[in-house]
Amino acid sequence: SQDETAARIRELKASLGSDVLLLAHHYQRDAVVALADVVGDSLRLARAAAEATARHIVFCGVRFMAETADILTDPGQAVYLAEASAGCSMADMASVDALEAAWDELAAAGAGKVLPLAYVNSTAALKAFVGRHGGLTCTSSNAAQALSWLLSQGAKAFFFPDEHLGRVAARELGLPLTETAVWDRGKARGGLDARAMAEARVYLWNGFCVVHQMFEPQDAAAWREKEPGIRVIVHPECRLDVIGEADAYGSTETLSRMVDAAPAGSKWAVGTEINLVARLAERNPDKLVVSLSPCQAICANMYRTRPKSVLRVLEAVAAGTPPPPVRVDPAVAGQARLALERMLACA
Ligand code: 13P
Ligand code: SF4
Repeated sequence: SQDETAARIRELKASLGSDVLLLAHHYQRDAVVALADVVGDSLRLARAAAEATARHIVFCGVRFMAETADILTDPGQAVYLAEASAGCSMADMASVDALEAAWDELAAAGAGKVLPLAYVNSTAALKAFVGRHGGLTCTSSNAAQALSWLLSQGAKAFFFPDEHLGRVAARELGLPLTETAVWDRGKARGGLDARAMAEARVYLWNGFCVVHQMFEPQDAAAWREKEPGIRVIVHPECRLDVIGEADAYGSTETLSRMVDAAPAGSKWAVGTEINLVARLAERNPDKLVVSLSPCQAICANMYRTRPKSVLRVLEAVAAGTPPPPVRVDPAVAGQARLALERMLACA
């Protein structure tokens, strides 16, 4: 039963002590979150991994997060993705080959100085591309800061994979929409027309999160009509027209903090993954907390991880036969680390 699994996990964690650290993203199911040592957004989890001394780090999240943790830990530490098949469709929308081709096209067209900026929701190979071209990574909580740093180098920015986060970061810095241009990842060549290439300051790869595309601007209007005074808050992976209807936007950590810190009786329509929204509702019974969307905005990849996934890893670790860790090739990791460390230093 679930209770027995949780009890066994607690026993194993107690016997392994400081040798093991369990990290969980806010989108994980409740039963997993309840077992974690650290629960956070992707920035907080990256920092927790970088600071960790445990030999075994069990990651409850998706692959790009576990790769980031591996890159930021020492070779003597091992990171296990609790469900090895948990990926992220947004990360898969930007292959290094496609980015290399786009980069060559920019250079050939004489676009001038361009620096790459990768949302951490990307493969390690892509972060390495960014590292070797002098750019940096960002998360949903520091995208505008990272973009600002990059533009202050007198460069244009090439932001990927998430078009929407890139656009809202540019807007936050006061850039008019005309200074952004969308690069069509569906085209092998000519993803951006020549005029846009010359005029724009921020190129946006048109990747997206399938979960956050479920939110619509009219969802906000519907809740405001139904529950006067409700505050609408959304994740910045939502489209700009949705963000435009919201009172505020922020990372999973920011959204959580806003609701948790709010006064009793306040009302919140939250535009992000359903497991987080349901948990916020449950731990704030004195407030009204609802999903912004009538659709089930669930991240199927995050949902793959169950307590029994964690138990499997911990039992193998305790038996001295740990599962294969997530290991980023050292050459790739070295370049990706440059991009991640630039982020951790500046944002
Ligand atoms: P956060 O950085 O806000 O945790 O977001 C990660 C993510 O995958 C959102 O879809
Ligand atoms: Fe990827 Fe979206 Fe799931 Fe986040 S919610 S892990 S961006 S698919």
